[in-house]
Amino acid sequence: MPREVIRSKNFVADAANFLLEQARMALAERGQFRIALSGGNTPRPIYTEFARIGRDLPWDRVFFTFSDERCVPPDDEQSNFRMARESLFVPGSVPEKSVARMRGEIEPQVAAREYQDQLDRLATERGETTYRHDLILLGVGDDGHTASLFPGTPALEETVRGVVANFVPKFETWRITFTFPMLGRARHICFLANANKNPTLLEEVLAGDRRYPAARVQPKNGDLTWILGES
Ligand code: 6PG
Repeated sequence: MPREVIRSKNFVADAANFLLEQARMALAERGQFRIALSGGNTPRPIYTEFARIGRDLPWDRVFFTFSDERCVPPDDEQSNFRMARESLFVPGSVPEKSVARMRGEIEPQVAAREYQDQLDRLATERGETTYRHDLILLGVGDDGHTASLFPGTPALEETVRGVVANFVPKFETWRITFTFPMLGRARHICFLANANKNPTLLEEVLAGDRRYPAARVQPKNGDLTWILGES
């Protein structure tokens, strides 16, 4: 599994250009670009820039999923879908049929099952045994979590399902998240970490410190890229 670490003083621009390159490559090779968006704050300016430089992309052949979602309604300020809608889907005029939203407003286990079933159906329609992303975007939290795979939580132990509900004690809330099996199937995983991230944590994660879920993400047959912002 090739791994590349890109240290950038033009983090937003370089990350957005990376997305554009990945999109063009997947569209040329397979006629579709399947990308999972990460949540939180880091990606927002990157998505805005991607919408700007990717305005000529055939968005009807791009399919957006989410690597995790908070269990809130889609118009909640905590919603990853709302963040992506405001920064990317609306500015980029992305058609609704190109977006698969995790329904954070319903019972978490039901939402996770529903999402898994949706991805399974999409894979079957293309004669595939399981849904494989061209690119999954991930962030990293100060505790080394990624997606909603938080240290010490049950979702870390999932070995079969690709999408699960995960209770996060530190927030006393449920999340919906991709699991290591789903992440492992991706053709390419890209972590995005801006210059505000704790550099010591990042170096420990990059060194493979398995205390941190982010360090345990391993594409089984794909590439892993880290784009790190530097001030
Ligand atoms: C979420 C994200 C989460 C995020 C990290 C980093 O739903 O919060 O998916 O995994 O990527 O917490 O968040 P920031 O980018 O806000 O630092």
